Order: sequence, then structure tokens, then C-alpha cells
Amino acid sequence: PTIHRADYRPLAWTVDTVELYFSLDAEASIVRNTMQCTRQGDGPLVLLHEGLMREDLTVNGAPPKAMRDEDGRIEIDLDGEDAVEVVVVTRVNPSANTELSGLYQSAGGLFTQCEAEGFRRITCFPDRPDVMTRFTVTLEADRRDYPVLLSNGNLVEQGELEAGRHYAKWEDPFPKPSYLFALVAADLVVLDRKVTTVSGREVLLQVYVEAGNLDRADHAMDSLVNALRWDEETFGLELDLDRYMIVAVGDFNMGAMENKGLNIFNAKYVLAKPETATDVDYEHIESVVAHEYFHNWTGNRVTCRDWFQLTLKEGLTVFRDQQFSADMLARAGGETARAVKRIEDVRVLRTAQFPEDAGPMAHPIRPDAYQAIDNFYTATVYEKGAEVIRMLHTILGPEGFRNGMDLYFSYHDGQAVTCDDFVEAMSEANGVDLDQFMRWYSQRGTPTVHADVAFDGEAETCTLTLTQSRPDKDDEPLQIPVAVGFINAVGDDIPLRLQGEAEAGATTRVLQLTERQQQFVFEGLRPGSVPSLLRGFSAPVVMAINESDAQLAFRMAHDADPFNRWDAAQRYMTRTLLAMAASDAPEVPRAFIAAFDTVLNNIALDPAFRTVALTLPSEAYLLEQMDVADPAALRRAMIIMTQTLGRALADDWLGHDEALAVPGEYRYHPGDAGSRALRNLGLRYLCAANDHQGVGLAELRAANAKNMSERFGALMALVQSPAVEAAQLALTAFEQTFGGDALVMDKWFAVQAAAWRWSPEQPATLERIEALTQHPAFSLGNPNKIYSLFGSFFRNNPAEFHRPDGAGYRFWADRIRELNARNPQVGARMARMLENWRRYTPELQQLAREQIEGLLKEEALSPDVREVLEKALG
Ligand code: ARG
Ligand code: ZN
Repeated sequence: PTIHRADYRPLAWTVDTVELYFSLDAEASIVRNTMQCTRQGDGPLVLLHEGLMREDLTVNGAPPKAMRDEDGRIEIDLDGEDAVEVVVVTRVNPSANTELSGLYQSAGGLFTQCEAEGFRRITCFPDRPDVMTRFTVTLEADRRDYPVLLSNGNLVEQGELEAGRHYAKWEDPFPKPSYLFALVAADLVVLDRKVTTVSGREVLLQVYVEAGNLDRADHAMDSLVNALRWDEETFGLELDLDRYMIVAVGDFNMGAMENKGLNIFNAKYVLAKPETATDVDYEHIESVVAHEYFHNWTGNRVTCRDWFQLTLKEGLTVFRDQQFSADMLARAGGETARAVKRIEDVRVLRTAQFPEDAGPMAHPIRPDAYQAIDNFYTATVYEKGAEVIRMLHTILGPEGFRNGMDLYFSYHDGQAVTCDDFVEAMSEANGVDLDQFMRWYSQRGTPTVHADVAFDGEAETCTLTLTQSRPDKDDEPLQIPVAVGFINAVGDDIPLRLQGEAEAGATTRVLQLTERQQQFVFEGLRPGSVPSLLRGFSAPVVMAINESDAQLAFRMAHDADPFNRWDAAQRYMTRTLLAMAASDAPEVPRAFIAAFDTVLNNIALDPAFRTVALTLPSEAYLLEQMDVADPAALRRAMIIMTQTLGRALADDWLGHDEALAVPGEYRYHPGDAGSRALRNLGLRYLCAANDHQGVGLAELRAANAKNMSERFGALMALVQSPAVEAAQLALTAFEQTFGGDALVMDKWFAVQAAAWRWSPEQPATLERIEALTQHPAFSLGNPNKIYSLFGSFFRNNPAEFHRPDGAGYRFWADRIRELNARNPQVGARMARMLENWRRYTPELQQLAREQIEGLLKEEALSPDVREVLEKALG
């Protein structure tokens, strides 16, 4: 059944307070739920439920007189009543909950995940975000198995019970929607820190981890403290609780969850020490910890009226975590570090969101309809949503944006609201009309802006014509902020004078494109000045402009805007790789190597920047740029490209490797991380070329490096190379060292799943993956393993997944079958990995279609997986 945004109706009954009593047990937990409900309109009281064994249900102490119960929806008629007490008793089996939604077991502990619709798998409840309730929760469990008992808010009581059981009572002072409920009952150890908030309150911060992992909790704690400070300083937002807990769990469907006062995290985004976590892991932990913390205001204090508004909290919170990380990086590593962060964020958008926006699941950041809401936790809602918020920030400026945020909270604190409410607050606080801007919430597909540049040499003017087109509705132009600069012949930014201005001013201007086509005239600009458009990626669009290779090489070497400098390199690489993929005798052009060389050897540029500038675009992005996606042809081009760059620049890579060695103890610092990243990239190119010295260095580092960034970088370089034997030795040694460490083994699986085939003699990656599913460290029940072994194959290894014999697709379909039964949310995510099948060659399309159609014939498809497959088939 499809749910439509337009069908939203408030409920007739709300729940003011809820008291939950959990008698916890791995196989049979009893949940007693007492709700005080009040009428707020005409109609029955509605309770939703899924997969529950219901033992009792009473209204004011008696069985309800008029009650319907169909498709997980109970309706109770209560004519003449305005307030009732409803008691529901249910029984659940956490150990049988393989979906990891609701109350489930992981490593012997009990955990919950309720967003979006998991609470109804614990008890009957009006499980919608617009029902905000005050929760009191009592947890009772065996003391030995579950010494730690946590829920949202403040601990108000605890004590011993008979038969080795104990209890804890928690009270959350803030009304909240049920999706923010959480409990944890497990054997954990805790890292404590006390801090004083801006208004002088002392608060307790805690990170809970499994015994033995305490030495990996510090970075998460530091990140939490930094996030707390940043939100105070940047947005005047203070922590509103006396106690704030983060709990790491090994089995978790996604990244983390912002439950009020009790965040539950995939352990991957908590645990770090230099020996086991890479620089990238450290960076992700910092941003995810911050993301969940920022939700406390943008999501929890002000929440969503319905799930169509998801981007209200997610787009805004991603924007906030991006800004936070950028500030942290800039504090330690200067403005280049900030620019590199922006580049990484845009790379994610182009790799994950652009294809989504061009495929059968394309949707506006605020969707109009869905079948399974879990399918809409997407790159569009999150990442494009964040770009939309960023455009507001650009249009209104930091102060205007802050004023809008202040007004938003003053109006809506404690409420469940819509995206319109947010944009209206921004508009009112700034006296700016944002009606046209609002179209970003309903458009889907990536818009294109065509740029045409015409110089008038005599008058020294330059006319920039910008034309926008939308894939959906071309007659409703969007408001698109386009940041623009010009560079002169020696590479300097030119102060710009727009027609009508008295004198030249800033070198970067933000033009507001609001019509389908608009002209902007710059005065005093000589022919030959080079335009640099969409600086900083000021809008989530494709900027189309005719540029010669020479112009791209020039901007790659000189553009004053680091983002555009990177983008020029990406354009040059994309163009070159696509030409190579289309050629019978692919070769890397000399001019390209020279441009690459120039960046590599410009030691005035930060290593971190050189790394991103010299990293090839992802294959997913490149395939999206091909008229007909041909993974085999692209892979051949990629191999020749990496080998050529490794061979032609071998001495340079080796020289930088030596020069950039980072002395001393490992520290997470953007400068050090940049040096390590460039050395790792060098090893990738060198090993690809089977360079003798490069392979030797990688072997040494894979075996002996003190930190995981270097060790794993070296391992990856070996696995991603024709040096088959060296790779195998390194993999075996790595496995022996880290076989007992689940998070590190995730990397070990992922790197093998992403392995290219460098020669026909090399065994096919798929066969390797099939063998790895039998590895003792692999488990179908652990989402991280699914993502690292299968996800990494489907997503990062197109040439092997889209094999011409169709074996990759058959493997995919079998995995979907397994996961559909076990964990539909994860299954649906994997199902999406073939959604763009129509983009591929006719032969591949035929093979993919067979598998998709075969799956759709299965009777027991979950709504999640069915929605994806039906949309894919169209
Ligand atoms: N709200 C969480 C976050 O972004 C993610 C929850 C995802 N839920 C889901 N069903 N996929 O931090
Ligand atoms: Zn979020």
C-alpha cells in the first residue's frame, strides 16, 4: 500500500504520558504499557502494532467494547470519553528478532532501534512522530547477564530484586515521539566525563562499550565534547539533559540513532584506536557523534510532523555536522582542510545521490509517496537535503541563517512540524521571500545549469548567460545561487565589477539564478579571462560549460577556489577516462599526464588536497556519465589509467613517499592524515603498475605499520594490484593479526570484495566472495558484514558485479532472497544496488531483468524489498 503525503490527518487521540515496565529476557520479554490518552478530535483511538504477542489490552481497566484490529492497526471507539487509561501487555522475543528493528539481541545484550517504525514492534502505540509523550520506563532483568540498564532521561531509582534480578527506573523530562525511545540492557563498561555547559550546569557524558574496548572510546568522547561546545557557540544551543549517553553495539542496521539522551551507535562509529582505526574512521566517528548530538535540537526538541518531512531533521542535521567537521578540520589544519572536507562531501553526493536522482527511486527531498519509509533514508533526503539547507545559508548569510534558526526554535520548540515551518521561519527572520526557493522541496532529478560566456573585447565586457533546466518540470525555475569567479592569464583571481557597480570588488560573486535564462554582465574583463563557475559547489546541480582540455588543465593548476580546482581535475579525468573507455586502443594522453604531474609535484599544495585532486572519480559516478554504462570498458580504461600514472610518475610517487613520512606517535590530525593519504594513494598507483619498489614498500607497511591508516592503505594497494602473491601473503598476515576483531575484519572483507581483476589469470572476485561467506568471521546476521562483503562488491566493483555471464546478478538475487527473509531493511538496501540496470548494455539489461523478475515472483517479499524491485522494473 502506498502512503501519500497529502493524506496526512492529525490523530483523534494523543498520549500524554506512558509508563513502560519491561521484564527483560532474551527469549520472552514482557512489556506492560500504561498510557494516559486524551481526545483532541473526533474519531477512534488508534494503536499500531507489528509482530507482537498481545497478552492483555484494557481501557479504564476493562476490555474495550468496540474495537477493530486489522493489518497492524487497532481502532477503539470511545464515544463520550475525553480521557482514558489504556494498558497493553505484550510479549516479544528479542533473540528471534533478526530485523534489528524494535527490541533485539546483540552479543548477549538487549538493544532497541525504533526509528522509523520499530516501537510498534515493542508495544501497541500510536507510533507516529506527531504524538509526543512523556516517558517513564522501568527495566527489570537478571543482574548477571544485564548489569547495565539504560533508558532515556534521568535515572530516578534502582535496586535489587529477588532471584538475582535488579531494576532501574528512568524518567525523560521531555515529551518525545516514540521513535526516540530506547533501552539498553547489557554487560558494558563506561567512559565518563563531566562538563559544564554554557549556562553553568554540570552534565555527565558517557560512552558505553563492551569490556575490552575502553581504550577505543576516547575519540568518540572528545568528539562529543567538541560537538557540545560547537553547538553552544555556533547556534546558542545547549544540552538540555543532566546525562547524555552513547552506547556502541555490534549489530546495527545503519550508522547511529539519536534517541533522546541515549544514542545507540553502530560500534564502527564509536570505537577507535590508532592500531585498528584509519584516519577516515576517526573522521567518520567525529561527524556521526556530532550528527546524533545535533539531532537533540534539530530532530528531538523540534521533530517531524510525519515521515515525509524527514529531511527537516536529516538535511538540516547533516548540514550542521558538515559545518562542524569543517570547523574542526580548519581549526587543526587550516582553510585547505575545510576545502578538502567540502570536496569529500560533494564526492559523496555525486557518487551516491546523483545516480539515485537519475534512477527509478528518484524523489524530491520531501517525497510525496512511499510504500516503506525505511527506503527513504536516502542520499537525497540526507545529502541533497543538506545541500538545500546550505543554499539557504548561502542566500541568507551566516547571521541571517542563525536568526532564522533562532526564530524556528522560538516558534516550534516542543512541536512536530513541517519543512514549510522551517523555511517560513527563515523567511520571516530575514524579511526574504522564499516561495520560489521552496520548489527545491518538491523537485526531483539533478538540475542542469548551462553556462555560455561571451566576451566583447572592445568594450571589455563579458556576458555570462546561465540557463537552467529541470528533469521534471521545466516551467517552474528554481532559485539557484551560482558562485562565480574569473581568473587571469597568470592564474590570479580578478576583482569583479558587475554592470551597474561603481568599482570592482570581491573576486567571487554569488549570482541568483531565478529565471529559466538570465544574463549577467561583468565589466572590465579581458577576453581570455577564464570563468570559474559554481565555486564551492554553491548548488546541487550539474554545471555544463564548454571547456577545452587546456582550460581544464589551467584551472586544475591555478583556480583560486580549491573546490573548483579539484572539480577541474575531476572533469579532466572524467573526460579522459570516458574517451579511453570508448576507444579500441586506450591510451592516456601526454597532456593529461603533464597536468597530473603538475599537481602531484606542487609541494605548495597540501598533501590532503593533492590526494583528493589526484584521486580518480568513482566508477559509479563515471558509469553515470556514460551514454550506455559499460563496466568492462570502463574498468579497462581505469586499469590502463592507474598503471600509466604509476609507471610514468614512479619516481615522483616514491620521492613523495619518502618526504611525507609522518614521524612520531599517531595522532588524528588533518595534516598528518593528508600525508598518509597521499602516500597511500602513491602506493595504489605504484602497485597498480607493479612497480618493484612500490610493492616492496607496501609489503613492508602492510606487515609493520604501527597504525591502521598506513597498514590498511598498504594492504589495499597490494590487493588492488597485479601483485597477486604479495597481496595474498599480506591478506593472510592481516587476518592472523586481526581475525578476532570484527570491525577490522570488516575492512578485510571489503577490500577483497572491491578487488579488480588485473589479468585473466587472476581468480574472479565473485568466486573469492563466495568462499569468504564461509569464513568464520563472516555472519549474515551482522549488517556491517553485509555492507562490507556484499555492499562493497555491488557498489564499488561494477566490472566484477556486472559480469557478462550474469553470475554477479545471480549472486545478487540469492543474497536478496536470504536477506529479504532475515532483515528486509538491509535487504532493500542491497536490492537497490541494481536499480539503475537500464543504464547498462542491452546484454546486461537482459540478464538483470531476468533476476529482478524472478525475485518479484517470490510470494513472501517484504514491503521494503518489493518497493525497490517494483520501482526498478518500472
Ligand atoms: N535518524 C538516524 C540518523 O540519521 C537514522 C535512522 C535510520 N533509520 C532507518 N530506518 N533507516 O542519525
Ligand atoms: Zn540523522
